[in-house]
Amino acid sequence: MDPMLNIAVRAARAAGDIIIRSLDRVDLLTITPKGRNDFVTEVDRQAESEIINILHKAYPHHAFLGEESGSQGAAQAEYVWVIDPLDGTTNFLHGFPHVCVSIGLLYRGRPEKAVIYDPLKQELFTGSRGGGAMLNNRRIRVTKLTGLKGALLGTGFPFRDQTHVDAYLAMFREMMKDTAGIRRAGSAALDLAYVAAGRLDGFWELGLKKWDITAGIVLIQEAGGIVTDLQGREGYLESGNILTANPRLHQVMREVMEQHLTDELRNPA
Ligand code: IPD
Ligand code: CA
Ligand code: CA
Repeated sequence: MDPMLNIAVRAARAAGDIIIRSLDRVDLLTITPKGRNDFVTEVDRQAESEIINILHKAYPHHAFLGEESGSQGAAQAEYVWVIDPLDGTTNFLHGFPHVCVSIGLLYRGRPEKAVIYDPLKQELFTGSRGGGAMLNNRRIRVTKLTGLKGALLGTGFPFRDQTHVDAYLAMFREMMKDTAGIRRAGSAALDLAYVAAGRLDGFWELGLKKWDITAGIVLIQEAGGIVTDLQGREGYLESGNILTANPRLHQVMREVMEQHLTDELRNPA
């Protein structure tokens, strides 16, 4: 395996072990609110510092952007590791067994490497630009479905920032009536990995953060899918508004989104 991916896998597994060890003592954890419907525990923090320790030892000149510890390292660093040590904290706190560790690597601002690890199912998704996307070392591909009929889509609800709830619900309503089903599983990084693996035909969510999506973007692109903002443009790493599927289905989903975009969604700050 690519040496950088190898180290990232080691870091993700170490974080996964911390998550697993904490699962049966969730009720003893100190839960600190970060914002509306947003919580952090010592497990998130420990997992992140373990990941950064491992990566920093191997790559002392690389920078880091972690959900819990923010930015570290030289501002002009070419390589930046983008880390969500525990994606699905609300699931974790409720014993809902669907969480992951997400580690992406940006090279000059572009997502290049990806590790998404589900420690409960022991599923390891890895991807490297030009090298394909894998699940437990087997190649994965997005689905070939060309329309909404029969599609299983993933999404996330705007449960923290309520600004776009009405627009979101209008999109949801339309998708719901035309598809086979919509899942809100509670871990955006795993949702993206599932699109790459062909378990979901497509996915959309508003207002995600870089650590939710950097790794998933690489997986999907390497699995033959496209990732854009809701209007089919770049800039999704900054806005966090994401629409992804195989190219044909993506076009169909984009047409649905288009009808419900507000001015604020068209021109995110
Ligand atoms: C959250 C999950 C969730 C998504 C939220 C994210 P966290 O991440 O990915 O599915 O809807 O927007 O913030 O807080 O569990 O790391
Ligand atoms: Ca997250
Ligand atoms: Ca998190």
